[in-house]
Amino acid sequence: MTSDRITPESLRARKGGSPPITLLPVYDATFARLLDRAGIDILLVGDTLGQLVQGRENPLAVSVEDVIYHLQCVGRAARRGLLVGDMPFMSFQISPEEALRNAGKLVKEGGARAVKLEGGERIAETVNALTRAGIPVIGHIGVQPQSMLITGEMRLSAGKALEDIRQLLRDARAIAEAGAFAVVVEAVPREVGKKVTESIPIPTLGIGAGPDCDGQVLVTHDLLGLFTEFKPKFVKRYAHLAETIEKALGEFLADVREKRFPDEEHSYHLKDSSLLLELERLP
Ligand code: KIV
Repeated sequence: MTSDRITPESLRARKGGSPPITLLPVYDATFARLLDRAGIDILLVGDTLGQLVQGRENPLAVSVEDVIYHLQCVGRAARRGLLVGDMPFMSFQISPEEALRNAGKLVKEGGARAVKLEGGERIAETVNALTRAGIPVIGHIGVQPQSMLITGEMRLSAGKALEDIRQLLRDARAIAEAGAFAVVVEAVPREVGKKVTESIPIPTLGIGAGPDCDGQVLVTHDLLGLFTEFKPKFVKRYAHLAETIEKALGEFLADVREKRFPDEEHSYHLKDSSLLLELERLP
């Protein structure tokens, strides 16, 4: 194990945002290597893999086995970043025992060094059971995509009414008291992100929760401009990879059709002249 490896304790010590923590979802070895080399702190195999890798409309069908497979892919390439497995829909809601069994699989079979699960007060007992069993936990409050059947598929933000804000604070405190070492706060007004951050002793990792959180999260495909169907207000695109890829594929297609590729530079040659003669004579 390399000594600069990120751990839950080293992240917890960065409460206060110095330097702010970074979390990005990742599903394969190529991207894991890039994210890790760039210095991203937390490599999350998120259930967004349902939409971004499996082509589904939402994350609900993602299974524990799917997350294990992608954890293994990412884990082979990651050296420094903390490898975290998202607990998919219905892998932890049934009971704390079921959650322990499934989180244990993400750790033992997938190589996860922590798990993330959505929910606040209602899952505090489960968070407590997991941490007591030795599995570090990241909570996830605010907009919770796994609750979309109840909250509505188009729910883009949370914490805008006073009762919602009170609940959010109860959720954040419950998760922290239950032993989580960090909590993702998704799509809340920046003032609410700040209040939550000031109210709990563990780092908040904001995705659309403003600049006062202890860390920042974006979906990798969004920030790289790989997913272009839809862009929430909080997403900043740092690259336009979909355009770059489409341009490259168009050029490849034209080169093949116009017989410009492969050219001399990209072809192997038989160097042995006697072999060349033999080749000519072959029926
Ligand atoms: O599944 C995921 O990628 C996530 C992040 C957006 C935090 O939950």
